[in-house]
Amino acid sequence: MKLLAPNPGWTVQADVIVIGSGVAGLTTALNLRAANLSVLLVTKAKIDEGSTKWAQGGIAAALGPGDSPDQHKSDTLIAGAGLCDEDAVNILVTKGPEAVRKLIARGAVFDKSSTGEIDLTREGGHHRNRILHAGGDATGAEVSRALLAAVHDDHGIEVIEHALVIDALQDEFGRVCGVSVHVIGEGSRDGVGQALARAVVIATGGLGQVYSQTTNPSVSTGDGVAMALRAGAAVADVEFIQFHPTVLWRDNPAGQEGQQPLISEAVRGEGALLLNHKGERFMLGKHELAELAPRDIVAKEIFNQMKTANVPHVWLDATHVHDFPERFPTIFQSCNENGIDPRVQLIPIAPASHYASGGVLVNLVGQTTVPGLYACGETACTGAHGANRLASNSLLEGLVFGAAISEDISKNLPPQGTPVKRSEETLLLDPAIRLSIQLSMTEGAGVLRSEKSLRETLNQLEQLGTRRSTAPRIEAWEVTNLYLLAVAIVRSALEREESRGSHWRSDFPESSDLWQKRIIQKFGIDGSWTTSEIEVKH
Ligand code: FAD
Ligand code: SIN
Repeated sequence: MKLLAPNPGWTVQADVIVIGSGVAGLTTALNLRAANLSVLLVTKAKIDEGSTKWAQGGIAAALGPGDSPDQHKSDTLIAGAGLCDEDAVNILVTKGPEAVRKLIARGAVFDKSSTGEIDLTREGGHHRNRILHAGGDATGAEVSRALLAAVHDDHGIEVIEHALVIDALQDEFGRVCGVSVHVIGEGSRDGVGQALARAVVIATGGLGQVYSQTTNPSVSTGDGVAMALRAGAAVADVEFIQFHPTVLWRDNPAGQEGQQPLISEAVRGEGALLLNHKGERFMLGKHELAELAPRDIVAKEIFNQMKTANVPHVWLDATHVHDFPERFPTIFQSCNENGIDPRVQLIPIAPASHYASGGVLVNLVGQTTVPGLYACGETACTGAHGANRLASNSLLEGLVFGAAISEDISKNLPPQGTPVKRSEETLLLDPAIRLSIQLSMTEGAGVLRSEKSLRETLNQLEQLGTRRSTAPRIEAWEVTNLYLLAVAIVRSALEREESRGSHWRSDFPESSDLWQKRIIQKFGIDGSWTTSEIEVKH
């Protein structure tokens, strides 16, 4: 199965193609250069677009006095609710400090305390202060700035902006040997072309746009996961969509779709409290860490409070947070833009889709189940996050696994393959169905799901899937990707008859030992789905 697209009109070639210019793609590209490989970095909008530059709270790494990778591991495993791959977690937490030091060596500047040490804060699920931050709450912008500067200085990395990758190209043995890509460009590289390479790394970020309210930017349509599915790759854990508990709720229907302003968990790390509509703290007694419990637990409790009182939001009280405008300048600004002064007013908040803990199934060096195809960052499922990612482990994952992937590629690079046509089947949906997909997913496959709500959503998706288009363009490719991912999420969520981490079923409210396994989805070249399960490595 492929997306309907014109035949390629031009060709470009490099040793390795990296798709995406967030922390995962940029880190992979820079590390590949250490092996002297030529890199083509394609990115679908402007180079700094993607979730990375929006990251607020920070990067988790065991760098503080008394902290250790073992303690970081323990918090990651607890947040992951029994579904983390321990080998992947070990790599994340032990290589984390070194990866952060390398980022600092590449020019990233983190906030310092009055004594000149890196200032470490705390977020949900962490038992220690281990979150490095920059510009107060603008960590992602600093990470992005530093990595982009390094990429810019490296003449072995060619960057093509406004280049949307459509599908993988495969040789006669099924090995990936390039991608088809649509470029809004000029001259010889305009429209659909083919980019050939000896290995392809998908680093296309998250899929928050599957839902109607998300913290993710508009480019987060999960294109890489959908592309990998169409190439025959396995995806895993896609039912574990993380809903961030504290997203600014705006009393304006027009402002309630698409990307919403995040109020970082670090605000709670600095003392902010959650209050219900009666002004009571409701996390006390629910978890030993109260407001700083792992994200899934806080999001569920907020959802319960909203449902019980039939209100659209709860409150975050940050009036006691010291120096709010200086510590959280981005959040202060977005609150002000919405008429709220967090120094003296409560902030209305509600959960919204934030992070895909699952994605394209990869091994410890980022290889997918299709030869020649790698995945890194939020697109990938390394198993490090299990059923619920620990706060600030995502930027870290991009840094750590970007390095591991580059090392593997540099050791195992075959000659360039020749693309062949493997399937005549194509799919393209009408861009007009985008909002209907998002609303249906929010309604039936959101924070709380049940067999009934999931089946209703699946039926609606099946109807929407009949709305075909014959006009290939960016909006149609994106909506087809959103549709495929929505189906994959709902199928997995239906399959998992238990509640665990960020998968919460009203009809199966408890976790079950029988479900200590990952659900794998595959999409056949004829458009059929298969579901299987694998045991989790502990
Ligand atoms: P991204 O940074 O999303 O980059 C994806 C790239 O792929 C983009 O360049 C995009 O344009 C490109 N792309 C997408 N589709 C295509 C296509 N078809 N063709 C070509 N290019 C394509 N995590 C933390 O660890 N700490 C935090 O404090 C934190 N805060 C967050 C705050 C917000 C508001 C959000 C949204 C996320 C936050 N996260 C945080 C999560 C973290 O930012 C992301 O998981 C991480 O940045 C993902 O990095 P990435 O490189 O995988 O993807
Ligand atoms: C936040 O700052 O609350 C987001 C942190 C994360 O997603 O890791």
